Parts: sequence; C-alpha cells; structure tokens
Amino acid sequence: MYKIPANTLFIGKKLIFMPECHSTNSLALELCQQSYVPEGTLVITDWQTAGRGQRGNTWESHPGMNLTFSVILKPTFLAIKDQFSLSMITSLAIRDYLAAMCSDPVFIKWPNDILVKQSKICGTLIENQLMGQQFTYAVVGIGLNINQQQFNIPMATSLSLIVGKDFDLQDVLEGLLSHLESRYLQLRQGRAQQVKEDYLKYLYRFNEHHTFQSGDDQFGGKILGIDDQGRLRVLIRDQERDFGVKEISFVD
Ligand code: BTN
Repeated sequence: MYKIPANTLFIGKKLIFMPECHSTNSLALELCQQSYVPEGTLVITDWQTAGRGQRGNTWESHPGMNLTFSVILKPTFLAIKDQFSLSMITSLAIRDYLAAMCSDPVFIKWPNDILVKQSKICGTLIENQLMGQQFTYAVVGIGLNINQQQFNIPMATSLSLIVGKDFDLQDVLEGLLSHLESRYLQLRQGRAQQVKEDYLKYLYRFNEHHTFQSGDDQFGGKILGIDDQGRLRVLIRDQERDFGVKEISFVD
C-alpha cells in the first residue's frame, strides 16, 4: 500500500495501487486507452508477474522488496523528434535521487540504465502514444531495486546492497517522484539544452576509450555524445558513427 506523495505538484496525485499485476506499464497503457487519466497518474504494484524490460526482455523483482511503478505523462509540448528527452529526464531524476542517497558515483549507461559500482540498480521502460505529429501520453516505467539482496542475473544490485541498510519504499518513492517532477518541469520550461548537458555529465564511459560490439564487429571507440534522436555517437578510428539501441553493446 502506498500513500499519495505530499511533496509533488501533480505526479502521484492520482495513485493506483495493485498488490499484484502483470506489468504496471501495460496497466497504465490500458488505462490511457480506456478513459481520461490526469497527467501524473501513478500505477504502482508490490509484485509484477510479467514485468517488461527493454528490447523485449523481462523485468524480475522480488515481491514487496523494490519499487515497480509507471507514471503517465502528457508531454504535448514536446516534438516527437525530441522524445529521447523523456528518457534523459527520467534517467537524470533517478540518478539525482540515488546520488543523494549513496556516496558511490551513480552513472547513466546509455540509453537509460542506472549503474552503481558497475552494477545495474534501475531500469526504465518508456512507452509513448502518439497521434499524428503529437504526443498524447507517455508511460514512464521504473524498476528500482531497493531492498532485494539476491539476484538471478549477474551485475545487478540494490540500494540496500550499496548503502548497507534497508529503506522504506514509501520514502524512496516520494524522493524519486519529486526528482522526476523537477526534471520534467525543467524540460517543460524549455531547458532541454541543460538536460542534455547534465545527461552527458553523468553518462557512463563518456569520452573514454573502450571496446564495443556491433553485429559481429568488435572495435575500440570513444563515446562523444548522442545525436538528436538519442543515438549513441562513437568515435571509431577518427570517424564518427551513430548507433541505435539494438546496434551497439558495451564489451569492456
Ligand atoms: C530494463 O530492461 O532495463 C527496463 C526495465 C523496466 C522495468 C519497469 S518495472 C515498472 C514498469 N513496468 C514494466 O513492466 N516495466 C517497467
């Protein structure tokens, strides 16, 4: 059970709690299609039975241990071509919150994983509904590992493993939503350039030389930034190349 957060203007003011559901993103998308929902509506559960991740993956989270929720936004001010901005503000909001909670550096691994000590602590899945050239809504799904101690996948971690104590899920939720609202308002106020600068500031392996893989090719390269569509720009042997999400992976 969760309470409506006291420290936000509109995010979470309508709260839909399901003790168990298949996926908060799927539920939020269904709600938007069925009826009017106010901007900022929060759909949250203790247990997702079919949590969805990036690239068709699943998202596993032990019941009642972590935060799994979706926020419905209506970014009608945003051009469709700028939709990666939503990814950037979401990642930044999570990073802002976590950086205040732990002393280890917190990075954003392109496009929107959050890493602490080289391990993934949070994943986000943003699903947009467009009509013509306009957004109707965006569902921002966040899975943040809080009190879970053991993971079936390598290189996963939780806030509790990092900090060494357990956290109250309601407190974390409120902190996180407040940061999400601030970053969203920053974008709505037209400060997209600042958002991009901040994103690059915390981008994992930005401006460093590392090995990447694309298809069967492995190559050394240096991340230079992201293009207007949010593709990763990498310098490879004096040539700049832009990669989409399914086109490149990090090797070392
Ligand atoms: C990833 O693969 O890294 C993205 C994971 C996103 C998981 C969250 S949990 C809440 C929301 N509902 C879902 O089904 N997925 C997202």
